[in-house]
Amino acid sequence: MSTTQPSPTAAGSGASATEAFRARSHAGAGGTSQERVATVVKAVLDGVHAAITAHQVTYAEFSAAKQWLIDVGEGGEWPLLLDVFVEHEVEEVAAQHQQGTKGTILGPYYLPGATRLPSVATLPMRDDEPGTPLVFAGQVRDTTGEPVPAAELDLWHADHAGYYSGFAPHVPAGNLRGVVVADDEGRFEISTVQPAPYQIPTDGPTGRLVEAAGWHPWRPAHLHLIVRAPGHRPITTQLYFAGGDWLDSDVAQATKPELVLAPQRQEDGRLRSEYDFVLEPV
Ligand code: DHB
Ligand code: FE
Repeated sequence: MSTTQPSPTAAGSGASATEAFRARSHAGAGGTSQERVATVVKAVLDGVHAAITAHQVTYAEFSAAKQWLIDVGEGGEWPLLLDVFVEHEVEEVAAQHQQGTKGTILGPYYLPGATRLPSVATLPMRDDEPGTPLVFAGQVRDTTGEPVPAAELDLWHADHAGYYSGFAPHVPAGNLRGVVVADDEGRFEISTVQPAPYQIPTDGPTGRLVEAAGWHPWRPAHLHLIVRAPGHRPITTQLYFAGGDWLDSDVAQATKPELVLAPQRQEDGRLRSEYDFVLEPV
């Protein structure tokens, strides 16, 4: 890591992810019945108790876990930790009754209110934005095959070094984020640069856990998208790159075979990939 390229510090990304989560003002699970709270929480605790017994957990290990949990909160890393290790299972449950393009986890780095862009657009980027230029084009249709006019593609991704704007102090606000509005036939063509794989910040409690367990901290390179249109269920998803590192061992377990792009190099040297989205009417 060179001195001009700051590391993705926990302070710079984990804590900001907590602020971003709070700002999205969650309604909470207010209507959850007492019975359901008791059932689900008991199942979680049963799992913890079973692990303690099965693996003969000691008081020293219990204390270390307590300290680590305190650190996760103080470091603002709850969104980071939960989105890496838990969200994929919640998404799988939600997906059981969904049609259309496969979804996957939102992750901690979505920021609402990105710049709105026309159907043929270049994402906001630095004049000297490093990375291989990538053209990403396609069409949004519904489950009957009809084009969805003016569908929105809310797109955000890491830069060439794996950093997200809004969560890494050296990346300008709004970089590589935009809401692209598709044309009358749901078509879009977005110019950007290919993102790099993403590494969980190694200096915070989540990174310390990954290191202590001997796991790796990587997610494969990915584009994040929320595709939405009035009268349709919004799809939160990610697109990955065929042959990319960590595709088969994503620390967040959020890859799906249907979500892998295979970009081709164009004559002008840019990569190009096509992907069509299918939205489910509601
Ligand atoms: C995390 C980061 C991501 O970019 C992502 O897509 C999912 C999870 C994380 O650090 O928690
Ligand atoms: Fe991500």
